[in-house]
Amino acid sequence: MEKVIEEQKQGTSLILDQQENNTKKLFIESYGCQMNFSDSEIVASILANEGYNTTQNLEEADLVLVNTCSIRDKAEQTIRKRLEKYNAVKSINPSMKVGVLGCMAERLKSKFLEEEKIVDMVVGPDAYKDIPNLLKDVGEGRDAINVILSKEETYGDIAPVRLNSNGVTAFVSITRGCDNMCTFCVVPFTRGRERSREPQSIMEEIKDLHQRGFKEVTLLGQNVDSYLWYGGGLKKDYDKATDIQKATAVDFAQLLDMCATSFPKMRFRFSTSNPQDMHDEVIHVMAKHHNICKYIHLPVQSGSTRILHEMNRQHTREEYMDLVDRIYKIIPKISLSQDMITGFPTETEEDHQDTLSLMEYVKYDFGYMFAYSERPGTMAARKMEDDVPEVVKKRRLQEIVDLQQRIAMERTKRFVGDTVEVLIEKTSKRSDEHWSGRNSQNTTVVFPKENYKVGDFVLVKVSDCTSATLIGEAVGYSEMQ
Ligand code: SAH
Ligand code: F3S
Repeated sequence: MEKVIEEQKQGTSLILDQQENNTKKLFIESYGCQMNFSDSEIVASILANEGYNTTQNLEEADLVLVNTCSIRDKAEQTIRKRLEKYNAVKSINPSMKVGVLGCMAERLKSKFLEEEKIVDMVVGPDAYKDIPNLLKDVGEGRDAINVILSKEETYGDIAPVRLNSNGVTAFVSITRGCDNMCTFCVVPFTRGRERSREPQSIMEEIKDLHQRGFKEVTLLGQNVDSYLWYGGGLKKDYDKATDIQKATAVDFAQLLDMCATSFPKMRFRFSTSNPQDMHDEVIHVMAKHHNICKYIHLPVQSGSTRILHEMNRQHTREEYMDLVDRIYKIIPKISLSQDMITGFPTETEEDHQDTLSLMEYVKYDFGYMFAYSERPGTMAARKMEDDVPEVVKKRRLQEIVDLQQRIAMERTKRFVGDTVEVLIEKTSKRSDEHWSGRNSQNTTVVFPKENYKVGDFVLVKVSDCTSATLIGEAVGYSEMQ
């Protein structure tokens, strides 16, 4: 039997799905992208069937799992520190077992078990269903490792346990892996080839969320625009699909349209879009449905065509600008965000200026900016020297961060005076008397609570703003309520 336990932790309400008969305790932590957080919910679900309930308390755990990120060296260093911490706890509680999941497990494979002896179990992103068997190996003192990447696994048949949930917003994964082979990126190696999840299982997961009162779903994938389900396996094998498979194939625009039409009282977001795969059809579907949020995370990585080419991104600066023009034309009020890498090998001052000018052109609402970090095994690491000095990378990074902040401020201001639709997610961090939520464009909005509650869709008249937050007052429910 399932019951919902509410816990107060650092001021946020955590709703944890717990099975009453489960006696063992799982402590699970996630680092990195949203996909990792979503995968941890699948792992928690698999382990719920093995007698584990989740705990927030490391000291009382029977099993500690960390879902890891390899995207930059710094991410891996953070996880190494956590592993040290777990091992310190383990020295007091030797029956506790420690497992590494995700990208770092895939990248380092048996190295964790052989050389370092700091973990009991190593599981790659496509092997989570094998965890019950691996735990038996651990119990019997054998090395427990499975880092086999799959052509088919999408975990479509597993209903995730929602971890740390506000009960209102949830992630639903729609694709796994990535075929793009950007030269700087470790993801194609750690998460394998791209495959899409069956639409039926996506719709069922959303239906279940809807029935449980959730109001917003973010469709997740390394490259959602490339979603293509045809009843086969890998995206790259689509050429070999039968005529029937091709006739019944579903692409991302169709999936988005199905979601928005089937669940008119839920709103939808998606992440991440790759410019080379983002077709106008998707923009038109977004424009057609009020309940598809008007926000696209559209990483570009650099504003220089030469660097984009070196990165194996399949578009030029001009093509990206054309895409942005079309998006703004079809949906004038949309917000866009970027990922940017500064100091990629051979990046000159001129390339850097191209990045700054592209940012001025696009006017991103948000941005996630990183200094290049060489990843072993990637094409850039094999073929190019990491030749931009650290001080130069840092200075250029600071320049793009400063510019993004200035642009974001201007972008936030554009909503002052407007009435925006907000889904209430939680109490504002700054004030117990205010709700916090986001508008369609993903900007945070805070306003007095009055009689509204978490999960309500309200219209908020915006009177003021800080650099990243809109401040206003609710004027009633929206049509989504
Ligand atoms: N398509 C993916 C991208 C994952 S990586 C997604 O779903 O978001 C997230 C971001 O990390 C990338 O867009 C890129 O800006 C950054 N990144 C990837 N590899 C990097 C590296 N080697 N050094 C610095 N930043 C990197
Ligand atoms: Fe990485 Fe490029 Fe795919 S950034 S996740 S290889 S789109």
